[in-house]
Amino acid sequence: MAYYHKLGNIPHKRHTQFRQPDGSLYAEQLVGTLGFSGVASLLYHVNPPTRISRIGEPVPFAPKVADNVKLAPHHLRTLQLTETGPDYLSARKTLLLNNDVAISICSPSERKMSYSYKNAQADEVVFVHEGSGVLYSQMGKLEFNEGDYLVIPRTIIHHFHFADGPVRLLIIESFSPVETVRRYRNQFGQLLEHSPYSERDLRPPHELIEYQPGGEHLVQIKKEGFLHQYYYDFSPYDVVGWDGYFYPYAFSIYDFEPITGRVHQPPPVHQTFEAHNFVICSFVPRLFDYHPLAIPAPYNHSNVDSDEVLYYVDGDFMSRKGVDRASFTVHPGGIPHGPHPGTVEASIGKKETKEYAVMIDTFKPLHLTEDALTFMDEKYPMSWKE
Ligand SMILES: [Fe+2]
Repeated sequence: MAYYHKLGNIPHKRHTQFRQPDGSLYAEQLVGTLGFSGVASLLYHVNPPTRISRIGEPVPFAPKVADNVKLAPHHLRTLQLTETGPDYLSARKTLLLNNDVAISICSPSERKMSYSYKNAQADEVVFVHEGSGVLYSQMGKLEFNEGDYLVIPRTIIHHFHFADGPVRLLIIESFSPVETVRRYRNQFGQLLEHSPYSERDLRPPHELIEYQPGGEHLVQIKKEGFLHQYYYDFSPYDVVGWDGYFYPYAFSIYDFEPITGRVHQPPPVHQTFEAHNFVICSFVPRLFDYHPLAIPAPYNHSNVDSDEVLYYVDGDFMSRKGVDRASFTVHPGGIPHGPHPGTVEASIGKKETKEYAVMIDTFKPLHLTEDALTFMDEKYPMSWKE
């Protein structure tokens, strides 16, 4: 939804005859969100996207919410887990969820996917903590690297090829469209000068995938707690051209320009994306507050109406002790949280931080899953008592 983009060949006028070399018509498809009111793209296929050859049995695919979880701050350590399953979908471990968002980790051992995937209900933001490769989608190829957020709108068929080396992904599923931050956009949708990133930092697919006729192609479609098994007798990557506002794109956390001040700036300055009832924020290396009496560490706060999830990416996080890379801290709404003992005094006089972290703030309570409990640091709730 970032801006208008097009790739390949499209007819001069939408909804008009556009013919293949053999004289047959290309199949036009409108793909968009929120009925006909959200952002959309028009795709031109070699084959009708409706031509399914068979549908297999649905496979249950839903996380189990844990019962009787105490209201407490939580710390989940996931660093030790370098493989969470063989392939992209079986490797997903959902740790936190509510009706607006689901947060998962994913470290597949396989580097190439033997199937394609689409999420029929949710946009996915895949944060690449470790790894690189190519995202292949119906809109074309998109190379990615460590530190990229890959924003993949719902219903787009895609698969990944990961390069050799470790793969560690944080996947944020959003049941409403993921957008850039509204207050940074003007009435025309363009990002304003005070935005911490601009359209120039957003990377859309750059090259279409060459259509290969024949073969059987499986697309696993995630919907309502199942993976539905759709088979096609043609490659779904048969798009010869498309245009519109609806496409996957990449944004690197390394391209987020931090906003700083003389005194401590509140978390919204780190906001990167928004969706209904939650936001995604990026903490990046930055100069600390420069008032002569400034305290760079955050103040205690009770964000009464929001649950706050921090995923630690790299560097020392100055306000927390004992968290690793790939740790999550979960601070539920209704109880205060703040810096660990000693970190406030220790922060005074510090000039800069090298931390990287991704924060997800939800306005409705999050539920931990049974998988999340296996990563739980039981000592964390009492770790301010030192
Ligand atoms: Fe906080």
